[in-house]
Amino acid sequence: MSPEAAATAAYIVAALLTVMSLAGLSKHETARNGVVYGIAGMTVALVATVVLAAGSLEAGAVALLVAGFVIGGGIGLWRARVVEMTGMPELIALLHSFVGLAAVLVGWNGYLEVEAVGAAQTTVAPELLGIHSVEVGVGVFIGAVTFTGSIVAYGKLSGRMKSRPLTLPGKNALNLGALVAFAALTVAFVVAPSLGVMIAITAVALALGWHLVASIGGGDMPVVVSMLNSYSGWAAAASGFLLDNTLLIVTGALVGSSGAYLSYVMCQAMNRSFISVIAGGFGVESGTAAAVEGEHREVGADEVAEMLREASSVVITPGYGMAVAQAQYPVADLTRKLRDKGVEVRFGIHPVAGRLPGHMNVLLAEAKVPYDIVLEMDEINDDLASTSVVLVIGANDTVNPAAMEDPGSPIAGMPVLRVWEAKNVVVFKRSMAVGYAGVQNPLFFRENTSMIFGDAKNRVEDILAAL
Ligand code: TAP
Repeated sequence: MSPEAAATAAYIVAALLTVMSLAGLSKHETARNGVVYGIAGMTVALVATVVLAAGSLEAGAVALLVAGFVIGGGIGLWRARVVEMTGMPELIALLHSFVGLAAVLVGWNGYLEVEAVGAAQTTVAPELLGIHSVEVGVGVFIGAVTFTGSIVAYGKLSGRMKSRPLTLPGKNALNLGALVAFAALTVAFVVAPSLGVMIAITAVALALGWHLVASIGGGDMPVVVSMLNSYSGWAAAASGFLLDNTLLIVTGALVGSSGAYLSYVMCQAMNRSFISVIAGGFGVESGTAAAVEGEHREVGADEVAEMLREASSVVITPGYGMAVAQAQYPVADLTRKLRDKGVEVRFGIHPVAGRLPGHMNVLLAEAKVPYDIVLEMDEINDDLASTSVVLVIGANDTVNPAAMEDPGSPIAGMPVLRVWEAKNVVVFKRSMAVGYAGVQNPLFFRENTSMIFGDAKNRVEDILAAL
C-alpha cells in the first residue's frame, strides 16, 4: 500500500472516530467513551499526517515537525493535567484562539506560496487561482475573527476583562460595515492578489472578532463560547481546503456544525435570539436594571440543619460557586444523609450554571450523585412551589427573579430556576456580591430567603456536622 493510500485509510478511521466522539459526548453516560474516541481519532490523524509528510520532507523539516508534535503535545498534556475545573472554559477559549491563529497562518502561507514563485510557476492550476484566492481570504477572515473573539472570551471568562458588554455608538453599523468591507476586499483580492489587501482583510477580521465578542454581556457568554467553538471548526475546515486535506475539512465541518447546533440549543434554553448573539448583540437595547434594596436575613449552619430536619423535600440548585469551593463532595454526602432519613432530594440544573455546558453535571457525577436525581431546569421548575427547602449552592444569575420581573435587567427574558416559590430558600455564598452577569439579585432580600455566608464547602460541612 502506498503511503498516500495508508494515510487516506487512516484519515477515514480518524473521521469516523470524530463522529463517534461527538455522538458519545452528547450524553453523560457515554461522555467518557466520547473523549476516548476523540483522543484516538486525533492521535491517528496526527501520526498519519507526520508519517505522510516525513516521506516528502527534508530531514530538518521532519525534525521541526516532530519537535512541534512533542513540545506542543507536552504543553497540552501539562495544561490539561493542572487545570482546575473552574479554569476549563478559559482554557477552551484559549485553545479556540490557537485554531483561529493557525487558520490565519495557513491562509497567509497559501498567499505567500503563490507570491514566492509567481502565478505562472505555482502548483495551483491556473484555472483554480481565483478559487485559491477566495479560500485564502475566507480562511484568513474566519481564522482572525475566531482568534481575537476567543482572546476576548478568554479575558472575560478569566476575569481579566470586564464581563459588561462594550456598547460603541453604531455598533451594528460597525459590524455590518466590517462584513461589507470583507466582501469588497475579497473581490479585490481575487481580481488582483496583493499584500496590502491581505493585510486589510486580516485587520478587518481581527477588529470584527474583537468587537463581536466584546459587545456581548456576561450572561450571554455561554452562547459565545459554543459559537467560537463552531467558528474554530469552520476555520479548520477552511484550512483543510487550502492544504488539500480532507480530514481537516471533514472534522472541521463536524466541529463547526455541532458547535453551531449547540449555540442554537443554548440560545433556545436562554430565550435569546441566535442571530442577535452571533451578530454581537444586534437588536438588543441596553435597558436600566431596577435598583434592588432591602434587608437580608443571615443564618448559621445550625439553623439550616434544623430546617433540613423538618423538610420532606429538598432541591439543590448548584452554580459556579460550588465549582469554586469544590463543594460537590460534601453536597453529595449531605444528599446521602438526607435521603437516608427519608427526605426526597433532587438537583435542579440550569443550562448555563457554572462556566461551561454541563459543568454542574460533571461535578456531581464526579462526587457520585446518582444521575436520576439530577434534573434539568424545565423538569424541576414546576415542582419548586411544593418544595420544603431549596439550597442554592454558589448560584446567582441562574436563580435571579429579575430575569422574569425586570424588563430593564441585562438578563431579562433568560429562563431561571424559580427557587423563590419554595417554602424556604437558603443561599450559600461568601458575600452579597453580584454574579457573573453583574446584576443585583432580589432573591437575597425575599422573606423566605436566608443567606449563609462563607465558603460553600466549609458551610455544607458545618451543616453535615450539625445534622
Ligand atoms: P454566578 O452568577 O456566576 O454566581 C456564582 C456565585 O457563587 C457568586 O455570586 C459568588 O458569590 C458565589 N461564590 C463564588 N465562590 C464561592 C465559594 N467559594 N463559596 C460560596 N459561594 C461562592 O453563577 P451561576 O448561577 O452558576 O450562573 C452562571 C453565570 O455564568 C451565568 O451568568 C452564565 O450566563 C455565565 N456563564 C456560563 C457559562 C456556561 S456555558 N455555563 C459560560 C460562561 C458564562 P460570592 O462572591 O459572594 O461568594
